[in-house]
Amino acid sequence: MKILVIGSGGRESTLVWKLSQSDSVTGIYCAPGNAGTACYGENVDIAEGEFDRLIEFAQEKNIDLTIVGPEQPLVDGIVDRFHSHHLPIFGPTRSAAALEGSKVFAKKLMSEYDVPTAAYDICESQSALEEITSEKPFPYVIKVDGLAAGKGALVVQNDDDLKQAIRDIYEDDKFGAAADTVIVEDFLEGEELSVFALTDGSNYVLLSPAQDHKRAFDNDEGPNTGGMGAYAPAPLGTPTVLQKVEERVIQPVLKGMKERGTPFVGVLYCGLMIHDGEPWVIEFNVRFGDPETQVVVSLIKSDLADLLLSIAKGQLEISGFELSDRYATCVILASEGYPGAYEKGKVITGIEQLFQSGKAQLFLAGTKFDGENYLTNGGRVMGVAVVSKSLNDAVLSVYQYVKVIEYEGKQYRADIGFRALNKTVRVQ
Ligand code: AMP
Ligand code: GLY
Repeated sequence: MKILVIGSGGRESTLVWKLSQSDSVTGIYCAPGNAGTACYGENVDIAEGEFDRLIEFAQEKNIDLTIVGPEQPLVDGIVDRFHSHHLPIFGPTRSAAALEGSKVFAKKLMSEYDVPTAAYDICESQSALEEITSEKPFPYVIKVDGLAAGKGALVVQNDDDLKQAIRDIYEDDKFGAAADTVIVEDFLEGEELSVFALTDGSNYVLLSPAQDHKRAFDNDEGPNTGGMGAYAPAPLGTPTVLQKVEERVIQPVLKGMKERGTPFVGVLYCGLMIHDGEPWVIEFNVRFGDPETQVVVSLIKSDLADLLLSIAKGQLEISGFELSDRYATCVILASEGYPGAYEKGKVITGIEQLFQSGKAQLFLAGTKFDGENYLTNGGRVMGVAVVSKSLNDAVLSVYQYVKVIEYEGKQYRADIGFRALNKTVRVQ
């Protein structure tokens, strides 16, 4: 089968790498791709938002399956467009993608189906927000309704944070139309966990529970980022916790989406807070996470191409699905200054050496190849990943390989997975 992957991050490098191992795959294209996707497939110079050109390409090349990485094209209806041309595509329709595209939609669905989530209010103006927050004890979280590239959740701890949030949303108009409606929700205590369900709308399989590290610096300090590293399976996702997530979150959401006539097909990414063993939903995403994909896809034993095609056809075969019994860790190497301003074009060394080592996996992201050198070309430059028999080994050995890569301004967290490591050590 011939596959087209849409996107250009480390997540897409991982998907293309995994798909390239499938016996049934005869060709992989990635639009627009990056230096990493070019290692296992062919990059196509079409942006993720150019639906007409993507459809034309899929028709011309007889693509059997298109897989969408990022959320924006999903929320903009790429799946509906492909369906109208009878082209198989993995991902939710525009209506189903509202689970990520509109926080208000997600909250209302959760209220209706008793899915545990923080209590919330909806505000449609600055004065409404000011009124609701005037009586509300700190801390709480203000979230813009629409997509905001992962920057739309503002944690408010004091008056200064509130003033800053109001300035960002209403005076500086940082979020545009995405902030026409905002929600104010209670702050949830606990530890975060990412759970991914691959679903055809009725049946689903779970990937290994993962933990991301959103803050830029060690010990969860500094600004929120797209994610600085991940590991899986996270011990926090015990079988009991996962069972609760299935019964209280995944099953009711799939039922609700079906009952609305907009079944959810694709990856349901549940961003959860686990508190005293109880799961609470922070948010839903309608796509694979980045950098969680680098670890959870590394731990899928089954053929990924066959799996995603069966889902796109609405016929997920659960019985053959298998996960590895190993552990994976991925550390993101970023550009100095990320998630703020950063320079590009720094020469990277060590890539060939790491590729040849055969021990660590390299998932290039904001990286380009100029014919001679690999150069930095984005905020998150690459992910270095290790799969091993124990979490301790995966976490500790990944840092041996992180050292092999060098470029000016290399920035990474030195504590990816350490929270779980401490726990593992404690329970032993
Ligand atoms: P989101 O964009 O909704 O994923 O939020 C980004 C980050 O903000 C999350 O990963 C959490 O770390 C934090 N966050 C969001 N909502 C809450 C909440 N209700 N309570 C505590 N932390 C939250
Ligand atoms: N790792 C966070 C995200 O993909 O949204």
